[in-house]
Amino acid sequence: MMFEFRVQAVCPETGARAGELVTPHGIIETPVFMPVGTRATVKAMSPREMEEIEAQIVLSNTYHLYLRPGVELIEKAGGLHRFMNWHRPILTDSGGFQVFSLSGINRIKEDGVEFSSHLDGSRHFMTPELATRVQEGLGSDIAMCFDQCVELPCDEETARKSVERTLRWARRCKEVHRRDDQALFGIVQGALFDDLRKDCARELIAMDFPGYSIGGLSVGESHDEMYRILDLLNPILPQEKPRYLMGVGFPTNLVEGVARGVDMFDCVLPTRNGRNGTLLTSRGKFNIKHSRFEEDWGPIDPDCDCYACREFSKAYIRHLYRSGEMLGARLCSWHNLRYLISLMKGAREAILEGRFPQFRDRFHELFSTGKV
Ligand code: GUN
Ligand code: ZN
Repeated sequence: MMFEFRVQAVCPETGARAGELVTPHGIIETPVFMPVGTRATVKAMSPREMEEIEAQIVLSNTYHLYLRPGVELIEKAGGLHRFMNWHRPILTDSGGFQVFSLSGINRIKEDGVEFSSHLDGSRHFMTPELATRVQEGLGSDIAMCFDQCVELPCDEETARKSVERTLRWARRCKEVHRRDDQALFGIVQGALFDDLRKDCARELIAMDFPGYSIGGLSVGESHDEMYRILDLLNPILPQEKPRYLMGVGFPTNLVEGVARGVDMFDCVLPTRNGRNGTLLTSRGKFNIKHSRFEEDWGPIDPDCDCYACREFSKAYIRHLYRSGEMLGARLCSWHNLRYLISLMKGAREAILEGRFPQFRDRFHELFSTGKV
């Protein structure tokens, strides 16, 4: 059995789950935050450092790697794990999001999406078959179906068409997917329309994927709208399969996602924020460049065990930023990643020990007020 998902505990009050996802490159303990390594590297972090912060899995992107360096080169290297020297699990996104958000003028056809590269403007045609073949070439442990993600706000007719197309494309991905050492997840779309979301989930479930992703969220809707969609899908998605909320990484959204039955999350937020000095901590979010840290000799987060928090003061890290030293960006990325990984580890332990509601309350209290 190359893939297996075992639910180890469910919080009776909320539906939060703790589980184990078995993959060919190791077992992932859930709930889990997955750092993003878009271009076959988690920006500013080496694989050795990623192991030190206990990253269990990283995400990479079909769209970027297909354009550069190309899947052939990565196949020559022996696959993405060997190419980037990361031997724990990898999840790849299909490009369904990036061809819409990053590329130039794109034309959506039934067969696929015509787009121009954000690198050099060259024209390409991405299809469900190609996205699947590229992900098989990369050799990720978990691959995504090629989907159509719509922008919000979005009218019902547009959303319906995108759901229908996403379902036809999911069928085509499944049809050509061959690797039995790679799990292919279906992606639930449907914008903010409850019936479309439910229909999309039910159709995908009938196709029997080994896991389900929730896409098209964190694209400008309110938190309440996101939570409403998660509440809606929680009882529909199969209990025995993993659920992955795509592109969500703000701490409060992670904890509330877990409370609504989500097992996996990814986001560029910790690394992108880290590079501009924005820190996510147990006591809320702040920017290290602020003058109030000029003579602050304390750590970024007194509750964090990361290298940056163990060994450096806020005053020093602020100085690094102000001087344009790259260690500043590295230490802040390092901390932000470790914070989200620890947050999910804490949620998991709370679920296993039957105290998730208290964990959730305590998290919100501390994150919003900064007071112990
Ligand atoms: N990443 C964030 N949202 C999405 C989505 O809706 N689809 C895909 N493929 N990737 C995403
Ligand atoms: Zn830290």
